[in-house]
Amino acid sequence: MRKKAIYPGTFDPLTNGHLNIIQRACKLFDSVVVAVAKSTSKTPLFDMQERVALAKQALASYANVTVVDFEGLLVDLAQQQQAEIIVRGVRSIADFEYETQMAGMNRKLMPELETIFLTTHSDWADLSSTLVRDIARHQGNISTFVPANIEQAVLQKLR
Ligand code: COA
Repeated sequence: MRKKAIYPGTFDPLTNGHLNIIQRACKLFDSVVVAVAKSTSKTPLFDMQERVALAKQALASYANVTVVDFEGLLVDLAQQQQAEIIVRGVRSIADFEYETQMAGMNRKLMPELETIFLTTHSDWADLSSTLVRDIARHQGNISTFVPANIEQAVLQKLR
């Protein structure tokens, strides 16, 4: 049976840490849906359409990856996409605590949905989209942390 996984997040913006998780997920599953959340709890720098467009550009060379936006429950998207796996990257114990709680609640909402954690590569363990935005805001160099198209978009947005 073909395995379809969803990799959800806010991706404000997508970083090399996210990219590393996507590259590894691509090898594990037949197809990967990168799901860009509207995220009502965060105030993103990029609106949802911009985050989707940037992720699409950065991921254009991955044949088995698609990018979608979503609003509402992740389990509803999983049902709509007919995906039975959620992939999440885990950077630390703090992430693990948050992620196990979310995975547990998603399992209660949709028992057949499995969440799989991939440990973040050590190169990206300290990275977050917030820190990337903060470094860029203070004229720091973000080129090692994000794909080139995203570096350009962040610089342009903050100009
Ligand atoms: N490397 C580097 N950084 C990483 C990373 C990795 N591998 N994985 C995550 N991060 C960072 C992100 O950049 C992000 O940084 P930020 O907080 O500064 O923005 C942070 O870790 C966590 O972000 P992300 O992985 O994008 O998750 P999120 O917490 O923004 O998104 C949703 C969470 C959208 C998946 C979750 O809220 C959701 O499913 N919402 C839908 C509603 C729903 O179903 N709710 C019920 C859930 S039980």
